[in-house]
Amino acid sequence: MCGIVGYVGEKRAAPILLDGLQKLEYRGYDSAGIAVFDGKILHIVKKKGRVKELEPARALRGNCGIGHTRWATHGAPSEKNAHPHTYRKFTLVHNGIIENAHILREECLSRGEIFSSETDSEVIAHLISDCYEGNFAAAVCEASKRLQGSFALAVLFGDCPGTIVCARRHSPLVVGREKGGLFVASDVPAIAAEGVEIFSLGDGEFAALHAGEIQFFDEDLRPVLPHPVEYSCKEDAPALGGYRHFMRKEMSEIPAVLRKNSVDFLSNSQFSAFCEVLCHAEYIQIVACGTAYHAGLCAAYAFEKICRVPCEVSIASEYRYRDPIVPQNTVCFAVSQSGETADTLAAAQIAREKGAFLAAVTNVAYSSLTRISDAVLLTNAGREVAVAATKSFNAQLMLLYGVAAFLATKKGREVPPLAELPQAAAGALEVSEEVRGWTAHFLSAKSVFFLGRGADYFTALEGSLKLKEITYLPSEGYPAGELKHGTLALIEKNTPVVAVVTQRELAEKTMNAVHEVYARGAKIFLVTRFEELRARKEVFASVLLPACPEEFSPAVAVIPLQALAYYLSLARGNDPDKPRNLAKSVTVE
Ligand code: AGP
Repeated sequence: MCGIVGYVGEKRAAPILLDGLQKLEYRGYDSAGIAVFDGKILHIVKKKGRVKELEPARALRGNCGIGHTRWATHGAPSEKNAHPHTYRKFTLVHNGIIENAHILREECLSRGEIFSSETDSEVIAHLISDCYEGNFAAAVCEASKRLQGSFALAVLFGDCPGTIVCARRHSPLVVGREKGGLFVASDVPAIAAEGVEIFSLGDGEFAALHAGEIQFFDEDLRPVLPHPVEYSCKEDAPALGGYRHFMRKEMSEIPAVLRKNSVDFLSNSQFSAFCEVLCHAEYIQIVACGTAYHAGLCAAYAFEKICRVPCEVSIASEYRYRDPIVPQNTVCFAVSQSGETADTLAAAQIAREKGAFLAAVTNVAYSSLTRISDAVLLTNAGREVAVAATKSFNAQLMLLYGVAAFLATKKGREVPPLAELPQAAAGALEVSEEVRGWTAHFLSAKSVFFLGRGADYFTALEGSLKLKEITYLPSEGYPAGELKHGTLALIEKNTPVVAVVTQRELAEKTMNAVHEVYARGAKIFLVTRFEELRARKEVFASVLLPACPEEFSPAVAVIPLQALAYYLSLARGNDPDKPRNLAKSVTVE
């Protein structure tokens, strides 16, 4: 999604803006731009493509400016649709979606106002100008009251040089202060540095940055308290460390991440209040999107298998609009690597409003999700730069498996040995290098199928998503037992089918499905922990996983599938870290 950065202070703004935008590139974008005010002239440079296209602007004079990386929602990726947008003396950058933009645009057009872009964002500049009656901050507040939807804004005004007014509704925004300078950004990494104090804006809050001071206020200009953000700027400077891509580096960190997320909830007093509530839970709900949703499915399987507690997993964008039923004594886990996914935040808020105890499972301590939750379970996976989630998925699983193990213990039930996972993951990483040799058989596939039963089905779903998002090949993860209900029609000669088989009781059942697709010409790639299956005539190639508890096997079995997606993405000439059309965190609906 879009990225915002802004600076006003003693230094030249342009270098700070460009460096900040580079730190936000992980969010995904298609164009970028900056506006720098030198006290007389507002210089605007914007380009379709990468931030590096803006390098000539680094020499711009002026110590007040804003910058933006755009992930197109309204209006195609182009220079004219790139931010910043200007109307009369107001210039702004925006992250979010204005749902009533078309109505507001018609109103402006009826007043004879001229638009220069196809974006929803530009209408905000028109509104601020129309609301201006001498007070810059008041004009931004009044304009925001007309907006429906989500926004994070940073606004400049030609008659108020040296001032940036910021606004936040749903889309995250932080502001920062150091000696002699003030900052605004979509995310901490863009402005984190030694000596920079950082504050997050709450929903419906505004800030005015001017003359070394930050004023925080609400839409009626009433002062509000700042929300300080604790962060470690050392952590937010990940390096490739010899790897070609962050995705491969982050996969290599999975065993260590599993060890870091092996939490003993029985003895860890930090979670005693949460554990007390959990022990009385009669229902568990999980809301999430994408990979986090798949982590929820894997966790729900474990909760029901070893704790015997009903667990319902929902895609957040569906949950939020179906007026969900939340029974008494429900614990709801909102799972989100970024803690900023708009649909997950909305679903979490609805669950909580309906009486659920809300537990956040997130990788970002200062995220919006942590601020609305009753308990926070941090997946200490370290910053995940690649858009395709890998280590954060494994971390989510390890943490949630630990919760299930705690609950099963409290219920006097047997708990599979969770501690085996880190070692098993290390073994899976080693054998995963073998899938490099599979890519030739996938390169020109019309579609790729991933099959599994039980926990293996959820692993198959995640493997399919990984493949789709970074190779752009059509793919489906399917319950092995469902193929004969229609999907079998899609199997042709040499259609690649990846079968995940780690559940002993279901192994032969899955192999029956493997035989069905094999008989119709499919080429079978097996990911299993059962040596004896590798020699079956249907199997074209296979990798042997280390043994690990079946209930927790997705945390290990997914690794060869992550590797397959990575190597196939390279083979297809893609950048696995920055796949087309995707963002690391989707803060819009
Ligand atoms: C993961 O590989 C995807 N990039 C995507 O599905 C992601 O999991 C989803 O957008 C949810 O993000 P979150 O975990 O930050 O909420």
